[in-house]
Amino acid sequence: MKAYVEQHKERFISELLELLRIPSVSADSRHKADVRRTAEYIKEKLLAAGADQAELFETKGHPVVYGEKLIDPALPTVLVYGHYDVQPPDPLNLWETPPFEPTIRQTKIHPQGAIFARGACDDKGQMYSHIKAFEGLVTTNQLPCNVKFMIEGEEEVGSENLAEFLKEHKEKLAADVILISDTSVIANDTPSLEVGLRGLSYLEVEVTGPNRDLHSGVYGGGVANPVNVLCEMIASLKDANGRITIPGFYDKVVELSKEERAELAKAPFDLNAYQEELGIADVSGEAGYTTPERTSIRPTVDVNGIWGGYTGEGAKTVLPAKAQAKISMRLVPNQDPDEITQLFKEYFQRIAPKTVKVSVTPHHGGHPVVTPTDSAGFIAASRAFEEAWGKKPIPTRGGGSIPIVALFEKVLGLKTVLMGFGLDSDALHSPNEHYGIFNYLKGIETIGLFYKHFAELSRK
Ligand code: BES
Ligand code: MN
Ligand code: MN
Repeated sequence: MKAYVEQHKERFISELLELLRIPSVSADSRHKADVRRTAEYIKEKLLAAGADQAELFETKGHPVVYGEKLIDPALPTVLVYGHYDVQPPDPLNLWETPPFEPTIRQTKIHPQGAIFARGACDDKGQMYSHIKAFEGLVTTNQLPCNVKFMIEGEEEVGSENLAEFLKEHKEKLAADVILISDTSVIANDTPSLEVGLRGLSYLEVEVTGPNRDLHSGVYGGGVANPVNVLCEMIASLKDANGRITIPGFYDKVVELSKEERAELAKAPFDLNAYQEELGIADVSGEAGYTTPERTSIRPTVDVNGIWGGYTGEGAKTVLPAKAQAKISMRLVPNQDPDEITQLFKEYFQRIAPKTVKVSVTPHHGGHPVVTPTDSAGFIAASRAFEEAWGKKPIPTRGGGSIPIVALFEKVLGLKTVLMGFGLDSDALHSPNEHYGIFNYLKGIETIGLFYKHFAELSRK
């Protein structure tokens, strides 16, 4: 596989660049046709790589690309999941090169060069490495398993239509393991495998005061300002120790044992480098937990966006009638997103002063997951990393969310292997997202080795 990657790497890169030129922003209806064009591109590439069949399945939202190559019913089956949609590229002015005109540049962390484009790492680059690994295995006659691909176009908007697809196509999707590359490694010299993802509850709040915008001199001081009120309400979601104050919020949180925490603490983490890379003088979070713990095994609440009043050029003296915010809560086992959404709603309504009206509208959510470390899938991934990266990967708990993973277990009865190759510093969801050429090519090699080890382990 290594030789195949070396031989075809220029084409592998140029095909990824072509994929990155299509702005498949799932959240933005203006890009609906681009999203479909991306799905078509993936379908064609699956067929070209050696899939027996590939097709688009319609959903209420964007299409799912499904492809497969079934070589022998006696062999194990790997179901590869990935997403071809991307986050909106804004703010555009902060991109050094345009988000959908991929360019390759070197960085300190990526001396072999990195591809800068929206979706380069999350998840087009990582997802496409599966199609190229598959191509390599088929072309060199080394495919040792049956393979199914399910590449969706709505991950970045919560995968709300994929659940129905899973239920409807249970038989078609039957497999032995789910394989996903949509997470991170610690560093290019420190491979790791994520063994958990946080869940999510995402909602929008609206605080309304007077029946119209008011002159902030004439009325200021006498009428509650919804923006001020919203800020106070948000501030009261956490106490001085960084604990979330919503009653019942921690009731179902699984506390890790000392031993489990010590195990996770074995993953190297440099606080100074972390602060320096982010340009911050100090970190912040729940008292009693380290930064890696705060961002993986502990739940949190964050404002993702907040607006109201005058935000244009210059100054306008106004007491706005309304304030709004988008709020997310990252959840850990065994918190339930619907329950947490309900708890938030009740609390937020309750703490609102009489001077305003509050409405809370839930968006999407997802359950947290923990994946096994003793399964054939995990061991195969671990061996693949060890062989390709020269080091045994360290198990870590991830902080991000992939909402469909919990449903893979619930609907299909399948465990997932999170074999991601990105870096947290690759600026996912941010301006100047990028993906290391090293990570892309190494990923292809590692995926090829996963199949080899998984087939071997399954034979025993
Ligand atoms: N690939 C990410 C999740 C991720 C990133 C996991 C890095 C672990 C490490 C995924 O595309 C993502 O961004 N998910 C969203 C889910 C949401 C839109 C429902 C997230 O976590 O915000
Ligand atoms: Mn992703
Ligand atoms: Mn993402």
